[in-house]
Amino acid sequence: LVIVIDFGGQYNQLVARRVRECNVYCEIYSYKTDLEKIKAMNPMGIILTGGPNSCYEVDSPTYKKELFELGIPVLGLCYGAQLMMHVLGGKVELSDVKEYGKTEVLVDKKDSKIFENVSEKTICWMSHTDYISKLAPGFEVTAHTANCPVAAAEDVEHGLYAIQYHPEVLHSVEGTKMLSNFVLGVCGCAGDWRMDSFVEESIKQIREKVGNGKVLCALSGGVDSSVAAVLLSKAVGDQLTCVFVDHGLLRKNEGDEVEAVFGPEGSYDLNFIRVNAQQRFYNKLAGVTEPEKKRKIIGEEFIRVFEEEAKKIGAVDFLVQGTIYPDVVESGLGGESAVIKSHHNVGGLPDYVDFKEIIEPLRDLFKDEVRKAGLELGIPERLVFRQPFPGPGLGIRIIGEVTEKKVKIVQDADAIYREEMDKAGMNKTVGQYFAALTNMRSVGVMGDFRTYDYAVALRAVNTIDFMTAEAAEVPYEVLNKVMNRIINEVTGVNRVMYDLTSKPPGTIEFE
Ligand code: XMP
Repeated sequence: LVIVIDFGGQYNQLVARRVRECNVYCEIYSYKTDLEKIKAMNPMGIILTGGPNSCYEVDSPTYKKELFELGIPVLGLCYGAQLMMHVLGGKVELSDVKEYGKTEVLVDKKDSKIFENVSEKTICWMSHTDYISKLAPGFEVTAHTANCPVAAAEDVEHGLYAIQYHPEVLHSVEGTKMLSNFVLGVCGCAGDWRMDSFVEESIKQIREKVGNGKVLCALSGGVDSSVAAVLLSKAVGDQLTCVFVDHGLLRKNEGDEVEAVFGPEGSYDLNFIRVNAQQRFYNKLAGVTEPEKKRKIIGEEFIRVFEEEAKKIGAVDFLVQGTIYPDVVESGLGGESAVIKSHHNVGGLPDYVDFKEIIEPLRDLFKDEVRKAGLELGIPERLVFRQPFPGPGLGIRIIGEVTEKKVKIVQDADAIYREEMDKAGMNKTVGQYFAALTNMRSVGVMGDFRTYDYAVALRAVNTIDFMTAEAAEVPYEVLNKVMNRIINEVTGVNRVMYDLTSKPPGTIEFE
């Protein structure tokens, strides 16, 4: 285990990901975490992350000096590096020249373990206004840049390493190598943490925890809940029941596809129950146009349907949730990041089902790791690499009132769009794309007749974290083909538009 101590920087989750890419398991903890707790976990290495503060200011996040005296190797990155110097008797000051972006780093100490097999001149990602003006006793400079005398430093005797730039960011060309040099070379981690061992270990732990208990899982067909369900089924087989609520706001044929894979005819033994609640949702949504109200109705109705189904099953011992690590961190429970959004499945446990305990088998995994676990469990690739699809489904891709007729229009248009994007290979390069139904109707002419029909909007965005996004550059020929097909094949549509808006100011979804 390697522990990443979080000082509130924006790349902190990346640090953990890169370490795991070295097949070393790591977890993120806030800088407020007790030293005793850290010691008790017996980590092989500790990494201090970047952060937005200046370490010489009174209220800035800090850590006890004893952290550096445990005999456990410590690597400080950016703020973490400065803090290490500050706490150990060096000096950090505001720099005259800010360094931001790709910067050439010159390695001074070629036999430093951190720089093993790294070029002498290497491009790294800098982002700092403070700099280390004086090293703490025992340290020597191992790399510098044109503007920064201490780009890296180390005190080998005490296993302390400082790096001013961000090796975790991919712009740092050899950054992953440096992190791997730290965790494998300096800390001596074995590098044998793999997805197959995760899956095996999880199955074992789940079995121990569940015993003969009964387990209930809400399956949406999305990546996280699918992987969680299959993992549970491998662990406890028949004791698991999965409930899939079809709210009638899924993509075209999606309900049947989910049933084909996870239902009785599929390859898993999940005690799969499909609830066809389409009409119920359409009835509740009739006449409702306000986006938040729509979201609320869909959310509440979902709970109600699930609750009714759960009652039929009777009391269960465990409820499975597909919570993943970014949900935990973003909800402010893991590291030091600000609360970005309160995920529905973290923290607030549902009180509508009679159960004793919650199981979150994916709680420690990043999205790409969940996908790897999915492949390991034999879940088909097309499910494992599915695009994100919001819980309220097409309900928030139909502007204004949701009706069965509008759902059909947007399903058909979206299916065409996805098919053509697949054919053009765009499904591998564009982050998320879908068709939405604007509430606009306009005049057109088809054959010799006047039409007065809906306009479909096509959306395609590239995004890293879904917090910001840019409209993707979809080739004109692809858009043109999609437009043609939608107009010809989908009744009720006479116009197709492409949404160029980035996020912010837009959002990815329409409501
Ligand atoms: P927005 O529209 O907020 O979307 O820019 C960002 C990402 O989140 C997805 N999204 C949701 N996912 N429940 C979900 O599970 C929701 O209510 C929800 N709203 C948006 C959206 O598809 C995009 O990937």
